[in-house]
Amino acid sequence: MVDMKDDDSPATVCVTGAAGFIGSWLIMRLLQQGYIVRATVRDPANMKKVKHLQELEKADKNLTLWKADLTEEGSFDEAIKGCSGVFHVATPMDFESKDPENEVIKPTINGVLSIVRSCVKAKTVKRLVFTSSAGTVNLQEHQQLVYDENNWSDLDLIYAKKMTGWMYFVSKILAEKAAWEATKENNIDFISIIPTLVVGPFITPTFPPSLITALSLITGNEAHYSIIKQGQFVHLDDLCEAHIFLYEQPKAEGRYICSSHDATIYDLAKMIREKWPEYNVPTELKGIEKDLQTVSFSSKKLIGMGFEFKYSLEDMYKGAIDTCREKGLLPYSTHETPANANANANANVKKNQNENTEI
Ligand SMILES: NC(=O)c1ccc[n+]([C@@H]2O[C@H](COP(=O)([O-])OP(=O)(O)OC[C@H]3O[C@@H](n4cnc5c(N)ncnc54)[C@H](OP(=O)(O)O)[C@@H]3O)[C@@H](O)[C@H]2O)c1
Repeated sequence: MVDMKDDDSPATVCVTGAAGFIGSWLIMRLLQQGYIVRATVRDPANMKKVKHLQELEKADKNLTLWKADLTEEGSFDEAIKGCSGVFHVATPMDFESKDPENEVIKPTINGVLSIVRSCVKAKTVKRLVFTSSAGTVNLQEHQQLVYDENNWSDLDLIYAKKMTGWMYFVSKILAEKAAWEATKENNIDFISIIPTLVVGPFITPTFPPSLITALSLITGNEAHYSIIKQGQFVHLDDLCEAHIFLYEQPKAEGRYICSSHDATIYDLAKMIREKWPEYNVPTELKGIEKDLQTVSFSSKKLIGMGFEFKYSLEDMYKGAIDTCREKGLLPYSTHETPANANANANANVKKNQNENTEI
């Protein structure tokens, strides 16, 4: 049994995809819990992308930024050298990519393999934690009522249907499978965490990719409805705490689903209409049958290790909506009344949630 915490000095860990939605919140929690963090980003000089990291509590002493790119072999060597742990969070998330094979699929697979090689070279890494995706589990012709860590999505179906985000799902399936093989061959302690749709408050300056999906009923982005038709959800803070919890648990092994709530798109629409009546959320959804069953992702294995989820579905949406409003990324209302038009104008709302708009 390996003790994941360093004995005397605080543990040094590397987090890839540090500037992103999940990476930045994870780093905030790691710093608060006493870790020394090496954060990798593609462009450390881009202040718009890294300012929210530099402003974190304890960042001045315990956080360093490192330049690394998944498309460059050996790019993570320096950042990982000397670390006890690595959280590999980075991934290309461009659902609109014109060249999915080269822009999304290959960098994700080659990137994780390059990180495994960096861990082998470093000789100090006690555990590599990979942030996988629910898309590796349940993309199948017919939905089961419950999914667990033994399930894998059907690649042939994804290539045949090419649904919204298909290239991302392919990239995560192939990358996780390649990582299992490479870490086994090289005797690296590896675990994967499978979050469902991650929702909550955030510290990034731009509109997080997962909220394009989570808030699609508010923004009217119908292309994303298929992803939340029979959806599962986890709060960003619960997910990041689960990453640290599993990193620190010597007995952790294999895959871990991290998901706390299931809801159909109609359940979600009802909750948003009731809690945020200022948004014009439809009651009828064209082409989506009404008598949908919920599809559940079981976190039994994670809970069995002693992990406790803290947040409700409403907490997730409240956090996400409040933060988007504060940052001017979401209108205060989508009903066209003069009073609302005024409130929206005062909030200096950015209109296009389909882009990662910068403020
Ligand atoms: N959010 C969810 O609902 C959800 C659900 C399941 C799984 N996940 C997984 O969680 C992880 C993080 O997702 P997120 O929601 O935080 O997305 P995000 O905000 O887009 O963050 C992803 C990060 O990956 C980095 N990245 C992209 N291409 C890269 C490359 N070629 N080389 C190095 N870094 C690269 C980006 O870094 P730069 O700052 O350098 O641009 C970005 O900060 C991903 O692995 C994703 O598959 C997310």
